Amino acid sequence: MSSSTISFEKIPNNVNLSSDRKLQRALEEWQPRFLEWWMEMGPAGFQSDQIYLRTAISVEPSGWAHFDYVKMPEYRWGIFLTPPQADRRIGFGDRIGNAVWNEVPGELRKEMRRLIVTQADTEPASVEQQRLLGQTAPSLYDLRNLFQVNVEEGRHLWAMVYLLHQFFGRDGREEAEDLLVRRSGHPDSPRILNAFNKPIRDWLAFFCFTMFTDRDGKYQLAALAESGFDPLSRTTRFMLTEEAHHLFVGETGIGRVIQRTAELMKQAPAQDVGALGGIPLDLIQRYINEWYSASLDLFGSEDSSNAASYFATGLKGRYNETSASKYPDHIALEGVYEIDVPAAAGRLTTEQIPLRRAMNLVLRDAYAEDCARAMNKWNGFLAEAGHPDRLALPSQRFNREVGVYAGLPFDPAGNLLSGDEFERRRGELLPQDSDRAWVESLMIPTCEPGRMAGWIAPPARGIDGKPIDFQYVHRAGPGSDNAGGR
Ligand SMILES: [Fe+2]
Ligand SMILES: [Fe+2]
Repeated sequence: MSSSTISFEKIPNNVNLSSDRKLQRALEEWQPRFLEWWMEMGPAGFQSDQIYLRTAISVEPSGWAHFDYVKMPEYRWGIFLTPPQADRRIGFGDRIGNAVWNEVPGELRKEMRRLIVTQADTEPASVEQQRLLGQTAPSLYDLRNLFQVNVEEGRHLWAMVYLLHQFFGRDGREEAEDLLVRRSGHPDSPRILNAFNKPIRDWLAFFCFTMFTDRDGKYQLAALAESGFDPLSRTTRFMLTEEAHHLFVGETGIGRVIQRTAELMKQAPAQDVGALGGIPLDLIQRYINEWYSASLDLFGSEDSSNAASYFATGLKGRYNETSASKYPDHIALEGVYEIDVPAAAGRLTTEQIPLRRAMNLVLRDAYAEDCARAMNKWNGFLAEAGHPDRLALPSQRFNREVGVYAGLPFDPAGNLLSGDEFERRRGELLPQDSDRAWVESLMIPTCEPGRMAGWIAPPARGIDGKPIDFQYVHRAGPGSDNAGGR
């Protein structure tokens, strides 16, 4: 079987799974446990419905996806890697130019496992965080997009579990079990990363998550796609093709909320947007402040010996390390990266971090640039509607829990406040309970094809060339779902 052909066995795959009976059996034993987890922690209340979803049927860039109605528990989760590149070489670090590995080098085993488990853990975590959102979707179009994101995060878990089973022996199998045991926000057994333990109760938070937090995922996956461990590189490459839609959902979702708010401000300039059923700009800004800062934390410390070692050994590169001309030097032993760090008396001084130790920061800056691009686009909607107000990304120093700015009361402009001053202004800077309650009060489900809730503009177009008023979800009828809603 050629590695670009998907075999539709019990577990769809393009890794010739049936030739490795032991691995196949192990994964077939994991499969029902995955499904149990999905029924317990996946989208509540929609498991019997027909959802218009795309499924991977090929790993070729053109035409990899097939769209049709499917019940989510019957989704064909599988193992898909992009085909190997002939004679692929490590593109950076101390082992630059060496042939890539198809097995894990013994001395890198622990670090590699940690990287894979940390990535893997985010996939089921996000499904758990989003499990109740279907019940308040602003349209059938959005409902379908939520489920598309959810099933694909489930598939990303499969992708990582395959690597754990195939390359990490008994340790890997145990890690794969634990991935179904931890729960987002659980007091005793939480997910590994903080942003994945935050509840997502409303759709503005969902759009912020897919815009900012999933986008961290894109940059992490892209850095792993550069890896010298070829199966990891090929796995993450295919995940990135799916991930693009998640980011689209987030970016256009926030954009549509802003468009709707701008429209309402135009209709009734003297009135409060909230009174008209829209989401006021200052509240959107607070959500952005919260999710952007929490997502920046996911990149880790600015100065990191782990990051240096991942780069040196060829485990993890920079964003587009080898596929773009962005980085002329792939060794990175020379040069420094500058960062303003807090010094005495509330002042900042510029420090130089040796480039390899600064790789988390380099990746984070690529991410921040991408977020700034989206922000420009959103502000364009306000400008088009004739509004002088603008939204902004907060400074990377604001509201941080990880790295050199952690715990310091910087404002969104990057100025250090006193702790008291920050507390006094907290309500203006970050979402408060009253904000969340307000947004939640707007979350009334809209189930008629083509209709949108009053706080969000329609999308520019439908999915898969279908009209916006397409029946993206067929409800099976009340009481037919045994997964139990709330
Ligand atoms: Fe994912
Ligand atoms: Fe995603």
